[in-house]
Amino acid sequence: MQEIESVLKENRRFEPPAEFQSKARVQSFAEYERLYRRSIEDPEAFWGEVARELPWMRPFDRVLDWSGAPVARWFEGGEINASAVCLDQHLETERRTKTAILWEGEPGDRRSYTYEEAHVEVCRLANALKARGIGRGDRVALYMPMVPELTFAVLACARIGAIHSVVFGGFSAQSLRDRIEDGSCSAVITADGGWRRGKVLPLKAVVDEALDGLGGVHTVLVVRRCENEVAWQPERDVWYHELVASQSSDCPPEPMGSEDTLFLLYTSGSTGKPKGIRHTTGGYLVGTYLTARYVFDLREEDVYWCTADVGWITGHSYIVYGPMANGATQVLYEGAPNQPHPGRFWEIVERYGVSILYTAPTAIRAFMRWGDEHVEKFDRSSLRLLGTVGEPINPEAWMWYREVVGGGRCPIVDTWWQTETGAIMITPQPGAVATKPGSCTLPFFGVDALVVDEEGNEKGPNEGGYLAVRKPWPSMLRGIWGDDERFVETYWSKWPGMYFAGDGARRDEDGYFWIMGRVDDVLNVSGHRLSTMEIESALVSHPSVVEAAVVARPDELTGEAVCAFVTIAPGVTAEEALGDRLKEHVAAEIGKLARPAQIRFTDALPKTRSGKIMRRLLRDIAADREIVGDTTTLEDFSVLARLRGNED
Ligand code: WT7
Repeated sequence: MQEIESVLKENRRFEPPAEFQSKARVQSFAEYERLYRRSIEDPEAFWGEVARELPWMRPFDRVLDWSGAPVARWFEGGEINASAVCLDQHLETERRTKTAILWEGEPGDRRSYTYEEAHVEVCRLANALKARGIGRGDRVALYMPMVPELTFAVLACARIGAIHSVVFGGFSAQSLRDRIEDGSCSAVITADGGWRRGKVLPLKAVVDEALDGLGGVHTVLVVRRCENEVAWQPERDVWYHELVASQSSDCPPEPMGSEDTLFLLYTSGSTGKPKGIRHTTGGYLVGTYLTARYVFDLREEDVYWCTADVGWITGHSYIVYGPMANGATQVLYEGAPNQPHPGRFWEIVERYGVSILYTAPTAIRAFMRWGDEHVEKFDRSSLRLLGTVGEPINPEAWMWYREVVGGGRCPIVDTWWQTETGAIMITPQPGAVATKPGSCTLPFFGVDALVVDEEGNEKGPNEGGYLAVRKPWPSMLRGIWGDDERFVETYWSKWPGMYFAGDGARRDEDGYFWIMGRVDDVLNVSGHRLSTMEIESALVSHPSVVEAAVVARPDELTGEAVCAFVTIAPGVTAEEALGDRLKEHVAAEIGKLARPAQIRFTDALPKTRSGKIMRRLLRDIAADREIVGDTTTLEDFSVLARLRGNED
């Protein structure tokens, strides 16, 4: 808990801007408190009311059944379809002709879709999937660039009751294969390629490699995006545009049980194997619908832009389901933030008149570094709300976001949540809660969050501890695909009846939450979770490596960076070229995002007498910190001295 104890000194406080407040959904702290209290005291009444705002095909019989804890059952008896929530319900209103998606490709090509047009696209694709024999309960992997077809593919799966498993396009063939295999997917939707930093990412080729020698996948549907050469297996591979063209645009949404699985999304845990986080339909929709509406204060006239990739939970909840359930107009951008120039994001903000921007601290720090002039060159007066997610934001970046991007006018919502929570959990209500740079402030409605010690006792103000959640919430995960035991063990076994988030945190004297980072063997690089074990296994799979230990090292840009300590096989030389090869090896095994920033060769790793690697010491060494704390269990003291000297 040492890191957690290091209390951040931050006394600045910003009231919601009066102009924003006067039009906000929640306009005062007292109103937030009243709503929050009600949601905690009578969660069933609160969530029942919210849920009834959605178009159910069959009304639910009861709000919550927690008798099977920790597997919650929300809105049991109800039938609903996620694609109908996002599309069909709007067709009977003025939103029929409202723009749903304003898309821009990295090379500068543009397309837009109204809700009605998006509905046609989704129905055609849904029928195309059916024509390939895909239906209720089947798993479909999506490995795609950020094109509108990705959103359509997600919704088309939901429409026919197929379970989507989106894999971020930056993952390697091996990672994709593992996920396809774990979920027993029978189809893959991909593209020939996607544009990133002026180059084509050859997605179809990665899919081919991932599927090589793997049974079970009968269909690979390929969007034509970059017109790059692709290999073709005529039995298995189908062009998206060819198959979709001949399909009817009439495809009634499948009535799904509230607790039917909507999707799987893999995330890293403290052991090597990624976890297929399982989310269900009704509760997830209720959670994402309400949080999108309140946290972003979504209005009919807003132009909303979440810069995440649909391949992460942020994209699932706050590009696809939450905003579309609210009938929002949103920007979707394919490429890198600095392509072809470092002002690309702000150019997009100006072009579409973006009013709500939701991005990540790592991106904010990159913009800071590139210089204010690239931001200031473009008109940002349309912005009215800014958001961040993915990792703790340092107060300096928070202030820069507020002053330079938002011109001091826009509230910032620092939103804490996880793949597992499905929706935002701790966040300011932008019109009601004063913000403090670096704090995600207070819990959202229905979220009973607290900070506890090892025994599960609540900590006092400004005492560091573990972040936990006491009550079930609608968008919570229902399990880990194929591993019920790991689900209970990972999240529900530390303290009886409490959800363990894996983050360290403290609450200040106002009850505000300050997240201090992970307490397990999970790294957070650029807001993406990586498991130290996963990277270690990748390193050890290289013939030159005998043993590896991976720890996080603080990084100015990415928050944390991967630092690997490796011992190598006899006869192998510890040289820079080997370090580079190992970095490439990890990138190829897992994906570029896992590439170590640093490889340190060592002849031994610091271990306890029982053989456990003392990561705490390695973290200090990686960060160039003085080694603090107990080293008495260390087996060989000379290892430490030798480690300090070795850097690549
Ligand atoms: C972990 C979850 C939720 C979407 C993106 C990441 C860290 C997330 C914040 C925040 C401090 C944050 C936590 C969390 N995290 N948001 N606002 N402040 N830390 O989803 O990959 O499931 O990672 O990201 O450590 O546990 P994820």
